[in-house]
Amino acid sequence: MTLRSVLTGTGSSLPVRIVTNAELAEKVDTSDEWIVERTGIRTRHIADEGETTATLATDAARNALEAVGLTGADIDLIVLATATPDQTFPATATIVQEAIGARGGIAFDVAAVCSGFVYAVGVADSMLRTGMAKRALVIGSETFSRILDWEDRATCVLFGDGAGAIVLEARESDAADAPGILATRLHADGAHNQLLYVDGGASTTGEIGKLRMKGREVFRHAVNNLASVLGEVLGDAGFTADDIDWLVPHQANARILDATARKLNMPAEKVVVTVDRHANTSAASVPLALDVAMRDGRIKPGDLVMIEAMGGGFTWGASLIRI
Ligand code: UT7
Repeated sequence: MTLRSVLTGTGSSLPVRIVTNAELAEKVDTSDEWIVERTGIRTRHIADEGETTATLATDAARNALEAVGLTGADIDLIVLATATPDQTFPATATIVQEAIGARGGIAFDVAAVCSGFVYAVGVADSMLRTGMAKRALVIGSETFSRILDWEDRATCVLFGDGAGAIVLEARESDAADAPGILATRLHADGAHNQLLYVDGGASTTGEIGKLRMKGREVFRHAVNNLASVLGEVLGDAGFTADDIDWLVPHQANARILDATARKLNMPAEKVVVTVDRHANTSAASVPLALDVAMRDGRIKPGDLVMIEAMGGGFTWGASLIRI
């Protein structure tokens, strides 16, 4: 029998406050028309005082546990993807571990920015399949509003805050159509690490810094890298793009989603889109979108779901999951 990591449930959490494009246009030289046309974003959630990466992650984790009828005591692995941890250390995953009452297992953060959730899925899947843990919470949680330069119109309109979580469970099966993570590919190319970065850090300036991005260049790389990693994962798993029921992409820009779907020859109806409501929530965007499509009934048991992301580093990756 082969061990597989089975996705048993999802959860999410968003800050209460919703900020519209019109509100941003009062602060920087931009417009609702520009933002909608260039990005597809209409609103984003922004954390208020007291809402942090850890509190959002904890809410999303509880929401996912509730969906599968488990408690924190059932979890022996927490992998939390974030670029905006509550503190430099300890890992935000350990704050969530304590809050949900999961004691003694494994808990750590993964830093791969917008690709963080896909990286975290890859890491958790490897650990579950080698028997290091039995039940994992994989979380993407971010408060990018805290690292934005609110005077830079080229970046501050693009991001939002939020968290999403999934429960993965190690189960034995040899059936070809059994649920589970079928294939994952992860990549990084540090040659581009200055196209999307934060201009500070504990070891350099001693300040956290602000996000800086050469958006047009990131865009170009994103479409090419995503198309190629999606092809790799489909090849590994022995499927074609036609077999995919749902594409759940990282939600950076509606135009990137359209271009990726076009490259795969996938109809737009098969792409889960939340960028209009959530904007780019970095590592949280994929699990947030997954949770939306699981809860509204679009994603059903047996469906073949592809998740993918690309972000700072550059890092990128994709994972094919049978629900
Ligand atoms: O999640 C990690 C990965 N990140 C991404 O995938 C982001 C990828 N990049 C993008 O999504 C797009 O490149 C952006 C949305 C960031 C920008 O769209 P673009 O079509 O590439 O615009 P641009 O950067 O080429 O800028 C076009 C014009 C510029 O003016 P000029 O030089 O043509 O006069 C900008 O100054 O738009 C201007 N501009 C704005 N105008 C109004 C930039 N930001 C704004 C703004 N409002 N907020």
